[in-house]
Amino acid sequence: MSAATSILSRVRPHLLDLPGYTPIEPPEVLAARLGLAPDAIVKLDGNENPYGPSPAALAALSEAHSYHIYPDPLQHRLREALADYVGLTPEYVVAGTGSDELIDLLVRAFASPADAVVDFPPTFGMYSFLAGVNGSQVVEVPRRDDFSLDLAAALAAARGASLIFAASPNNPSGNLLRDDELMALLATGLPVCVDEAYAEFAGRSYAALVRRHENLIVLRTLSKWAGLAGLRLGYLVAAPPLVELLLKAKQPYNVNVAAEAAAIASLADRAHLMEHVAALVDERDRLGAALAAVEFLQAFPSQGNFILCRVLSPTKDRVSGLDAKALAVGMAERGVMVRHFATPRLRDCLRISVGRPEHTDAVIAAIEAVAADLIKGGEGS
Ligand SMILES: Cc1ncc(COP(=O)(O)O)c(C=O)c1O
Repeated sequence: MSAATSILSRVRPHLLDLPGYTPIEPPEVLAARLGLAPDAIVKLDGNENPYGPSPAALAALSEAHSYHIYPDPLQHRLREALADYVGLTPEYVVAGTGSDELIDLLVRAFASPADAVVDFPPTFGMYSFLAGVNGSQVVEVPRRDDFSLDLAAALAAARGASLIFAASPNNPSGNLLRDDELMALLATGLPVCVDEAYAEFAGRSYAALVRRHENLIVLRTLSKWAGLAGLRLGYLVAAPPLVELLLKAKQPYNVNVAAEAAAIASLADRAHLMEHVAALVDERDRLGAALAAVEFLQAFPSQGNFILCRVLSPTKDRVSGLDAKALAVGMAERGVMVRHFATPRLRDCLRISVGRPEHTDAVIAAIEAVAADLIKGGEGS
């Protein structure tokens, strides 16, 4: 037996079969392949914020003098600033290294290995990935055709489960959780994590309800509206006894000094950042209308900073051979990165993040160029 085989035989067996999280390709890799400068790439595959961080956050990063000191494990200043932002008090708030870390913490807090975690695909892949890392079962309750929850199936799946994840707006479909859906999930008594990573683009949040529902956990992030995806700063709001427990169970120094400084400065500069959000909401409308005008695309309404669209198939005769994957590959060859998912439910769809106006123009130009090439190819054959 080789050394490599013997060390793997000691790993927890469920990890050996883990499919792994499907990462997105870094833009530099595509740029190098195409012989382009990295900033020539139009990156619309990660729901990031094209306006970047607030200048106040960048100044705070360069002015902070405490990078040689460990961060505050109880996150006093940060929790105070976050609480002020969501209209609660700090005992309702815990911050993490991105909301991904908090998803992991919630799974480990509520689901023993072999317990079940419920989610509603198509949805954010991190819930099932991190439940899988923990050895938990994932019970996936598919959404209906309009991406709303199948409540009867959800409630049946909740029996015997330990934790529920529901994103609102949902990534990638863009629709919100409805009040009646949330109330039905909360009535199960299970911990229900409503992931509101995109709440600022929807202008709606359930955060205030954590005062009344001790099984509601609302997850938020500064990755999207505040343009801090690379610094990794997420937070959750929940009933104070749960927050107290999570503060004890998390890694003490989970939020680094840079992320803390940038987050506090961003929260103080929220009026400016919300102008970027407003620009992206306007651009979402323009992108949605432009996609809907393409004859072989069906764009779904979205409350997030992204739009899911279906590539209609079989396509009209003039555009033969066009499918969602070919479209994504062809757009990437033209320097425009959008997200294609390989799952059966989304195989014929693309998710396109909302960018600046010139990014919308580049998306439409790339789609038209790929379609024109396919027509030309079809005529030649
Ligand atoms: C629904 C949802 N939740 C959470 C995240 C991750 O947020 P963070 O960057 O805070 O880890 C994403 C990122 O795309 C997301 O789509």
